[in-house]
Amino acid sequence: MKKLRVAVLFGGRSGEHDVSLMSARSVLVALDPEKYEVTQIGITLGGEWLTGENTLEAFTSGKFSELNRAILPGDPSHASLYVSRVTNHAETIHKLSDIDIFFPVLHGPFGEDGTLQGLLEMADVAYVGAGVAGSSVGMDKGIFKDVMRANNIPIVESILVLRGDIETDMNGVIEQVEKMGAYPFFAKPANLGSSVGISKCNSRSDLSEGLMEAARYDRRIVIEKGVGNVREVEVSVLGNEHPETSVCGEVLPSREFYSYESKYVDGTSGLIIPSQLPNEVTEKIREYAVRAYKAIDCAGMARADFFVESDTNKIYLNELNTLPGFTSISMYPKLWQASGLAYPQLVDRLIELALARKAQRDHTERRRSA
Ligand SMILES: Nc1ncnc2c1ncn2[C@@H]1O[C@H](COP(=O)(O)OP(=O)(O)O)[C@@H](O)[C@H]1O
Ligand SMILES: [Mg+2]
Repeated sequence: MKKLRVAVLFGGRSGEHDVSLMSARSVLVALDPEKYEVTQIGITLGGEWLTGENTLEAFTSGKFSELNRAILPGDPSHASLYVSRVTNHAETIHKLSDIDIFFPVLHGPFGEDGTLQGLLEMADVAYVGAGVAGSSVGMDKGIFKDVMRANNIPIVESILVLRGDIETDMNGVIEQVEKMGAYPFFAKPANLGSSVGISKCNSRSDLSEGLMEAARYDRRIVIEKGVGNVREVEVSVLGNEHPETSVCGEVLPSREFYSYESKYVDGTSGLIIPSQLPNEVTEKIREYAVRAYKAIDCAGMARADFFVESDTNKIYLNELNTLPGFTSISMYPKLWQASGLAYPQLVDRLIELALARKAQRDHTERRRSA
């Protein structure tokens, strides 16, 4: 049997660069060398694509000198990887390999938000995960909420304001936020992840600080009502047209909320798998997860994150992460593990789904035939 040629992409320009390297390490270990021929492509914080003997090691140690520039033209007639070598001030470009599947293991902007997916679509290659629309809507907390509202999927009450509104009329923005009810509120940049730029605002002064903080990271800022006594429950979704869900898991943040520090610095946030919630609550969560997944046209995988109000068990969908943390101890694969699908089989399945989606695309007519 011919081996499938898989290009694993990692690193990237977002604040989740290092998380991506950790996820990629686990994926690379899981790709069975009997089945796959793997090319590693690292994307630097500056956005350079690099490849070489052991790209991940080079990225982890910061020693890039042995690596060469990797190029993927956005042109379907040249949809292979090229590598450029610079010698004596001349640059030569060689074809590196034809690639059957691209596997982006990138989190956040320029990886999970539809931009990379746009390049992969232009090149007309198979790739793991959601397409352009699913990725970008999954990333944008403002538009995502509107799509959920339109589909009657319960979400927390929220408003969206622009950086310009905050700069010119902070009092007006605060008035608008306070119309939603009592503190606390959460102020968030619309397009980011890992809780960067997010503040829990317990008072009016917190709110003005939180709005300015969020406005550093995005022109569009979402402000939500805080859910009191919140339990954070997550479920993994896998599939294209007929997505399936795993068991649910609960996150126990080490701080007042699941902040950047709580996610990556403390290392003491707990996971409870499966979550200890009544069956009717987890069944509802799984149903909402699938409906949301279909509503934004996800493919491959997503992790759906919910808030459950502990006194009432009222459920709110918080977000869909289309390229969730993917280390072997991350929630997404662990939930599948607990549902009977081990990590290497999960990786195989994602590759199958990527090929199936490409086959669907190849069967779609792009223009009227004469
Ligand atoms: N409306 C809310 N009510 C209660 N807690 C919230 C709310 N919004 C966010 N949080 C807390 O902030 C964390 C990060 O928010 P989230 O929207 O998931 O951003 P990110 O995309 O960066 O993960 C959540 O995991 C939760 O702990
Ligand atoms: Mg989150």
